[in-house]
Amino acid sequence: MAPKNAFYAQSGGVSAVINASACGVLQTAREHSHEIGKVYAGRNGIIGALTEDLIDTSLESEAVIDALKHTPGAAFGSCRYKLAAIHEHRGQYERLIEVFRAHDIGFFFYNGGGDSQDTAHKVSQMGVRLGYPIVCIGIPKTVDNDLPITDCSPGFGSMAKYVATSLREAAFDVASMCRTSTKVFVLEVMGRHAGWTTAACALAADDENSAPHILLLPEVAFNEGRFLAKVEKTLERYGHCVIAVSEGLKGPDGKFISASGLQDAFGHARLGGVGPLISDMIHAKFGCKCRWAVPDYFQRSARHIAAETDLQQAYAVGRAAVEFAIAGKNAVMPAIRRLNDAPYRWDIIEAPLSEVANQEKLMPPDFISADGFGITEAARRYLAPLIVGEAYPPYKNALPHYVQLQNVAAPKKLTKEFAV
Ligand code: F6P
Repeated sequence: MAPKNAFYAQSGGVSAVINASACGVLQTAREHSHEIGKVYAGRNGIIGALTEDLIDTSLESEAVIDALKHTPGAAFGSCRYKLAAIHEHRGQYERLIEVFRAHDIGFFFYNGGGDSQDTAHKVSQMGVRLGYPIVCIGIPKTVDNDLPITDCSPGFGSMAKYVATSLREAAFDVASMCRTSTKVFVLEVMGRHAGWTTAACALAADDENSAPHILLLPEVAFNEGRFLAKVEKTLERYGHCVIAVSEGLKGPDGKFISASGLQDAFGHARLGGVGPLISDMIHAKFGCKCRWAVPDYFQRSARHIAAETDLQQAYAVGRAAVEFAIAGKNAVMPAIRRLNDAPYRWDIIEAPLSEVANQEKLMPPDFISADGFGITEAARRYLAPLIVGEAYPPYKNALPHYVQLQNVAAPKKLTKEFAV
């Protein structure tokens, strides 16, 4: 009997290394062609399954698949799309089954963060409740590093390396200019509720006198008075002040300081704009020249400065996902387990999808310094190994050379359309 085919898709905000996980899945599935038939990739995540827009990855060459390891973004397109609960929208699941049955799909691999693991979890429940046997494996990814159980989330280490590097470089600039020009530099980084990326900015500092001088973490309620007093002291001492602020900074009322009032499809507040706000606040108080920057998509797509450790982990979880499926595991996600800090050693264990779906791991209190404006040694020990190693992409004409897949759609077998 021919082996069942597989569905693989990428979901949520992308990263510099999510395609390395795709590479891990595709290469491992190809090595096990007796157990897994074709791998169809969903164009734009689960939307590709619902609309029967399946990419036939068997048409891509070995070389192109291998080049995914050094290509940022999501090679098959991503999505922010939340499946309703089965009892709320049974038709959605009946459609998935129809598409999976038509293409003989028996394996479901879903690569994303907490919301995406919810999709994987729901599809595994569908398999049981609606009687369609399917092996569901989640694959971790999120630059926000907020997935539970796993030591870190692939994508984060490279983001951390980018922000720490950029901040270290910008700090040299501010220190040079502060006598007669810019005295304050504010970097706004991603992370929504979890301060991991803001914390990673602290890796830019070699010692307690180096920048960044202040971190504004989403786990610590913002107090304007205390903050401005800290800025004043820093300016007196160093003549300049470098600050990293999380896009998810909250006021004492627990509300985001920079919520736009809009939400994404996962129901999260759209954030952005806290950097300029903090910068204006300092200018209004001290009258000094302040600059701010929002690296925005630069920080999560910066493949040119990816961390080798992160790349290895992203690839390993993709590979492990297929190995788990072949070994008969179901409704689980490969998670990274830390065995040692220095040298960093890790292996892969399984985490139940039910325990990772919709969860957010915040910075623990013992990672946050007593004044709330920095991180502790424990946090540094945790973060330091995750940015280790350089994994430069190949260069062509002096620029990184990235790959574009053909992304040829498999012929549709159903006549009915499905609106998403
Ligand atoms: O991937 C998570 C994240 O990086 C958040 O920190 C951020 O708020 C969000 O993605 C925004 O992504 P997009 O605007 O692409 O939906």
